[in-house]
Amino acid sequence: MFRRLILLGPPGGGKGTQAGLLAEKYSLYHISTGEVLRRAVREESELGRKVEEILSRGDLVPDELMVDIIKENLTEDRATDGFILDGFPRTVPQAQALKENGVEIDRVLFLDVPRDVLVKRLKGRRECPSCKSIINAESSSVLDDGACPQCGEKLERREDDTEETINKRLEIYFRRTHPLIDFYRQRGLLVDIDGDQNPEMVFQEICDALE
Ligand code: AP5
Repeated sequence: MFRRLILLGPPGGGKGTQAGLLAEKYSLYHISTGEVLRRAVREESELGRKVEEILSRGDLVPDELMVDIIKENLTEDRATDGFILDGFPRTVPQAQALKENGVEIDRVLFLDVPRDVLVKRLKGRRECPSCKSIINAESSSVLDDGACPQCGEKLERREDDTEETINKRLEIYFRRTHPLIDFYRQRGLLVDIDGDQNPEMVFQEICDALE
């Protein structure tokens, strides 16, 4: 089975949702660069202070910083048996840095979802600060002050899920990240996944592509 994976896709494409399912089913180390950065902000670390404003604007964190973060995570013991990169690489220089640092990738799963669906999903997203469940408030009829269906904690809305920041993130995605589709397709690593179906069907399509 392929065990060194990248989940590539737009904001709201379902990377976090699918990475969680994959990590559980195949015991892979899930590295979400967005979550690493948000945790640093919450903990008010030096990294957090550097990136807080960038995240709230919806801009990208500089490549050098992100490459250092990913190198640190990939040297952890739990990465040895396989990993899923969720949110990295996001630019061609980041992808080149992986290669230059000797990180081999088996498959890049591209979650393809139309733009109007992405906006709707991001506006409806709620997250659990405790168990990290990701909820689609629209489809699961969870209210703003709703409780997490898994653990009962009060659900939160991500700070970068405002209309203005969503549009900015999508614009940056199409300009800076979308070129990675051709980058990995040319290297024979890309698998197209229809991300515009229910999460269970997306997951099945991914599993079929990995075995
Ligand atoms: P990051 O956390 O990576 O955010 P993102 O790429 O914008 O992706 P999202 O987390 O918004 O969406 P997702 O694809 O994970 O979708 P999800 O599963 O949650 O990065 C945040 C920020 O950090 C960036 O803006 C940047 O500033 C910085 N950053 C991170 N990495 C960086 C890097 N490498 N370089 C530079 N800067 C970096 O799903 C979304 C919603 O849809 C949920 O409500 C979910 O329940 C629902 N949903 C999911 N799948 C389905 C489905 N199949 N059908 C219906 N609903 C669904």
